[in-house]
Amino acid sequence: MESNIFVDIKKEQNESLGKNIFKDKTPLDHKFLPEKLVHREDQIREIAKYWVDALDEVTPSNVTLYGKTGTGKTAASKFAREQLIDAARNENVFVKVEYIRCTDYTTEYQVLAQLCQKLGRDVPNRGWTKGEIVNTFRDIFKTNAFGKKLILIVILDEIDILLGKDGDGILYTLTRTDNVSVLSISNYLDFKNLIKARVTSSLNDREIVFPPYGANQLSDILSERAELAFNEDVLEKDVIPLCSAMAAKEEGDARYALDLLKNAGELAVDEDSDKVNSDHVRRAKDRIEHNKVTEIIQTLPSQQQRLLEAVLNLTKQDEEITSGKLYDEYKDLSKKDAVTYRRIFDFINDLELLGIISTNTISRGRGKGRTNIIKLQCDEVLLETTLFSI
Ligand SMILES: Nc1ncnc2c1ncn2[C@@H]1O[C@H](COP(=O)(O)OP(=O)(O)O)[C@@H](O)[C@H]1O
Ligand SMILES: [Mg+2]
Repeated sequence: MESNIFVDIKKEQNESLGKNIFKDKTPLDHKFLPEKLVHREDQIREIAKYWVDALDEVTPSNVTLYGKTGTGKTAASKFAREQLIDAARNENVFVKVEYIRCTDYTTEYQVLAQLCQKLGRDVPNRGWTKGEIVNTFRDIFKTNAFGKKLILIVILDEIDILLGKDGDGILYTLTRTDNVSVLSISNYLDFKNLIKARVTSSLNDREIVFPPYGANQLSDILSERAELAFNEDVLEKDVIPLCSAMAAKEEGDARYALDLLKNAGELAVDEDSDKVNSDHVRRAKDRIEHNKVTEIIQTLPSQQQRLLEAVLNLTKQDEEITSGKLYDEYKDLSKKDAVTYRRIFDFINDLELLGIISTNTISRGRGKGRTNIIKLQCDEVLLETTLFSI
């Protein structure tokens, strides 16, 4: 065989020292569902206490899980789902638990079509009226071949996205269908402000809060994964404590902790090192932040990218950036399709929320009013190369 780049790379990897780092990378993947979830026993138990009604053919209460990113909400709901499906199979009751990630199905129609399809109804992905899809969905609970009552639990993960876009129609329809219980998962405690009073009242949900993990808890989570993912003795002893401490600072985010550990391992492999050390972890942090900023900038609407370019230009000129100056620079870059000065304030707000810029209102002294000073919060070179690549 002629030389093949993949074969070559595999051979290099087999010969390198770094080959001994990972045993199996999949346990460090976001999608991996561990056999047990340490420090989430209470929350899982609470979910189960509501869901257990389903085994008596009673529709469970609706439940809402709240908590910041990486606090184990998705994992806990999937864990409870597996357990309930097992129990229902054993007790021979007709219970289904369907998981919907609302980032994949972004309208009421799409969610209902997906549910109908999962329950064996042939419905098109588009084209029917809302009434048609709702009726088809509801019919599932009226007739069933088994002569048994079907109870459906719908997990709506990342529900905030649906509420922002399509209103609260889906929650209303589901909560107004007999035999259906909803488990919503939200990143925001005030998520109910986004839904109408009539929906809140038919939701009538039980709330379960997922607090951020502390450093010690993260350490336990990482240790379990590390055992599956890394070969013995390749992690220096300060690696897991450091990942845990850094992630505890980032709002107790287990996903971030796992990312740090994985990236640190990858850096060790790249460098042909036979151990992962704290320096790899520190550099893993830079690498993750770097990727995050790049991704955010690349996915911004083009007008906001242009505004960032204006901020960059002024920063390079060492100018103090007021909103007036920024607007002038932005207009120069935009030529014809510039948006109004007022819209710019919305953009500035968005960019500040994303953490790419910061604003500071200062007073210029009596009678001179107040001004907004804008500062870049991400690396200048990184911003420039990213904008340039677009
Ligand atoms: N208690 C835990 N034990 C083991 N792994 C966990 C635990 N909590 C979270 N994880 C892992 O951390 C990552 C993020 O958790 P996830 O459930 O996606 O968080 P959320 O949905 O709250 O953003 C997943 O890979 C998950 O398996
Ligand atoms: Mg989640």
